[in-house]
Amino acid sequence: MVKIDNISLPDFPLLLAPMEDVSDPPFRAVCKDNGADLMYTEFISSEGLIRDAIKSRKKLDIFEYERPVGIQIFGGDEESLSLAAKIVEVTNPDLLDINFGCPVKKVALRGAGAGVLKDIDLMVRLTSAVVKSTSLPVTVKTRLGWDSNSLNIEEVAERLQDVGIKALAIHGRTRTQMYKGEADWTLIGKVKNNPRIKIPIFGNGDIDSPEKAVEYKNRYGVDGIMIGRAAIGYPWIFNEIKHFVKTGETLPSPTVEERVNVARKHLHKSVEWKGPIVGINEMRRHYANYLKGLPNIKEFRGRLVTLPTVEEIDAVLDEVVKAYSGFSIEKTPIELVNYHENCPVN
Ligand SMILES: Cc1cc2nc3c(=O)[nH]c(=O)nc-3n(C[C@H](O)[C@H](O)[C@H](O)COP(=O)(O)O)c2cc1C
Repeated sequence: MVKIDNISLPDFPLLLAPMEDVSDPPFRAVCKDNGADLMYTEFISSEGLIRDAIKSRKKLDIFEYERPVGIQIFGGDEESLSLAAKIVEVTNPDLLDINFGCPVKKVALRGAGAGVLKDIDLMVRLTSAVVKSTSLPVTVKTRLGWDSNSLNIEEVAERLQDVGIKALAIHGRTRTQMYKGEADWTLIGKVKNNPRIKIPIFGNGDIDSPEKAVEYKNRYGVDGIMIGRAAIGYPWIFNEIKHFVKTGETLPSPTVEERVNVARKHLHKSVEWKGPIVGINEMRRHYANYLKGLPNIKEFRGRLVTLPTVEEIDAVLDEVVKAYSGFSIEKTPIELVNYHENCPVN
């Protein structure tokens, strides 16, 4: 069992990574169904929360069935983060996570997210301010350092533990790497194996198969793994990893019916939470992922992404199940998309 303060998680827990515009309640619902042990919201701006911005407030929505669930905030100012922590506490999540990893220009160059990695003293002050403002367990998610000349994660881990964080998730890249290259887990392993470190250490970056999860578990000894992109359109990754950890066996690919059921639930939850117009619209980018590997799916997909009502989309999903009944989808490697390819670094 792994414990984050008073939260008990199973051995080698699998965490759903916080992902802006992705890990919203509808997506979290299907990840929870498929084995995610701990999930995080999209990141929420502390300034936005304080100003009562609608977009930030909406991201605070969490549901009982999601527990344990963490709310993630970001910011570069002690007072704002403290106030935001107090606002978050009212919504009663299981934990509060601080983002010190976001590399995008509008966050990192304004002294928040991964920008804070340039100044460990500031990071410690911000974290300490949050810990003191809330009775929730506070966790942090960050990267290895700002760039390859400042790989300071070992010092960061010790100092953040000393000011009271209860777990640390580390993405094995620097800020300047954005999402390029391969995540390097060597330093994550070093942090985990530092005898001074008592809190759970979760590794993150590029896990896209049960085999890789087990290989990294064994090689780096982390307490659990956080999964982001591999779960997009493929929430089965959580149960597939769990099964492989337990038995050494690979689960068969989800059937067409299972895929359609998950897409359908994702759609219905989207409409429930976002309303029909936004819900249907934002769901359109997900069908291709859920139905990947089905031959000649283009015509169905074309209708799924243009039809305006849930009833019509549901009817097409029924047609897909019928048309591909008994078809088994070949297992193919999950593709990790670089969503931030065109993000300017400086
Ligand atoms: C679309 C997208 C949005 C993201 N948004 C956030 C975020 O809000 N907070 C955060 O800490 N990390 C965010 N990340 C980073 C992920 O949590 C994770 O660290 C990263 O994708 C590496 O893990 P993976 O290789 O399993 O995807 C985002 C990543 C993606 C792809």
